[in-house]
Amino acid sequence: MLFSTLCGFLVVGKTLAQSNTVDAYVASQSPLAKAGLLANIGPSGSKSMGAKSGIVVASPSNVNPDYLYTWTRDSALVFQTIIDQFSLSIDTNTRGEIDNYVAAQAIIQQVSNPSGTITTGGLGEPKFNIDETAFTGAWGQSPSTRCALRVSDGPALRSIALITWANFLLTEGNTSYVTNTLWPLIQNDLNYVAQNWNQSTFDLWEEVDSSSFFTTAIQHRSLRQGVQLANTIGQTSVVSSWTAQAGNLLCFLQSYWNTAGYITANTGGGRSGKDANTVLASIHTFDAAAGCDALTFQPCSDVALSNLLTYVNAFRSVYSINSGLANNAAAATGRYPEDSYMGGNPWYLTTLAVSEQLYDSLIVWNQQKSLNVTSLSLPFFQLFDASVTVGTYTSTSSTFTTLTTGVKTFADGFVATVAKYTPSSGSLSEQYSKSDGSPLSATDLTWSYAATLTSFDARAGLVPTSWGAKGLTSSCGISTGGGGGSSSGTVSVTFNVDATTVFGENIYICGSVDALQNWDPDTALILSAATYPIWSITVNLPASTQVQYKYIRKFGSSLTWESDPNDVINTPSGGSFIENDTWR
Ligand code: NOJ
Ligand code: NOJ
Repeated sequence: MLFSTLCGFLVVGKTLAQSNTVDAYVASQSPLAKAGLLANIGPSGSKSMGAKSGIVVASPSNVNPDYLYTWTRDSALVFQTIIDQFSLSIDTNTRGEIDNYVAAQAIIQQVSNPSGTITTGGLGEPKFNIDETAFTGAWGQSPSTRCALRVSDGPALRSIALITWANFLLTEGNTSYVTNTLWPLIQNDLNYVAQNWNQSTFDLWEEVDSSSFFTTAIQHRSLRQGVQLANTIGQTSVVSSWTAQAGNLLCFLQSYWNTAGYITANTGGGRSGKDANTVLASIHTFDAAAGCDALTFQPCSDVALSNLLTYVNAFRSVYSINSGLANNAAAATGRYPEDSYMGGNPWYLTTLAVSEQLYDSLIVWNQQKSLNVTSLSLPFFQLFDASVTVGTYTSTSSTFTTLTTGVKTFADGFVATVAKYTPSSGSLSEQYSKSDGSPLSATDLTWSYAATLTSFDARAGLVPTSWGAKGLTSSCGISTGGGGGSSSGTVSVTFNVDATTVFGENIYICGSVDALQNWDPDTALILSAATYPIWSITVNLPASTQVQYKYIRKFGSSLTWESDPNDVINTPSGGSFIENDTWR
């Protein structure tokens, strides 16, 4: 009794001490982070190195690594932070910067580059020179003369920042600027998203060319928000096609979930799939109005919490600064455990993202005055109460208090980790050493500062505006029509099937119509493994028809049908259609 009381006292004491440390860090680091972020924006930012007006440099570092470029991704995330803070009246001194950003993006969108022009894929180019000219040098592993890239999160992120700004301006009654200046830019980006989302893309780390959870989640949000704005300002011609593609994206989003209890970040890449990609997706698609909705992987959904636990635990044994930490203590985290870039270290922005997902969750639980523990999120909640069981706990229960207090301490622990490894100047680079926590890689990474501010704002309970995640239902396998080419009574149907195979084994499809070989397994159509473990094929099927089919596995001379019953789809009357399946 005395012992447990004493232990309880010590734990409370430790928690209080950490909370005070984090309070102090938030107070000192907030202004430094804001100043660090603004310093990297041209033309007058003190570290913007000659960048044009409204251009964000990723980092002033111009050697090892050379980040003296403007990335569409980084810039959009930085301005999302600035615009959110402006709209929430946290900082309204940045109107000039925001106007400059808009003007700069209007120029950047039109710059033809090795990926194409604005209408032929140029929006997928990941970065530009800081004088707003195209970057024509080598990229990644490609030779110095290179072809097109497709890095499709950039246009989606940019459109979300611009829509957020548009929504604020509409509250001021500034419809003409929204319609005449912002809308054309938003439309360029969202038409690109609607047309390209189903193509392969490099992930946000620009390493894996496949499909990527972060990109899919952001694209989905961008089209939903685009549709809302279009309806508000009467630009309704885009509504049906963007709505249809948003439905397809929401459907495709579900396919990244894997039964091991986490989100596989990329369909390609041959890694564990445990990746900050998924945590960043959750915080950047947070919509408090949607509660703990699992369909959109909201921060407090059981899928996102189970994923968070898996992601964090993946770093416990790979960084020596994490050694000796309790399994319910916060830890340093990086992009993905297999990372070797610059030695493969924790990143400030990924560690902060974990804290932000947890702060976002607390916002929702406190708002709805209850919290739900499911069998999927049970291991997460057991970190804070080993005896907790599946159930719903209202805010008057002691379990609610125990769990939310535990989550807050855990969240603060990630900020405390960042605080511990922030140099006294407050300057944040990209990474910190896995062996001693000292700053590494690009100095003054603008994105690190933005990640600091968004985490702190979430800790303070600030809620970014809703984007329409509430009440969505999945239309998996059912096209809502609209986008894509059909011809003379046929519909282009993409079959994706999640199937784990052994090397040399392949997946085929056959079914009840001519185009699916009339159930003949010997002539069944082979699927592509380019996005393994998703096997994929696109075929033209008769429109408005019920089609039955099955997948087949062939390995040498052995042939295995899927178990019964037959799969069935009802093809739409036109457009294109995506069917996502799992082998059974
Ligand atoms: C490398 C990161 O992987 C990428 O996401 C980022 O856009 C650039 N650095 C610039 O910060
Ligand atoms: C493609 C190969 O063709 C297939 O046999 C294998 O199962 C998958 N890659 C996964 O390794």
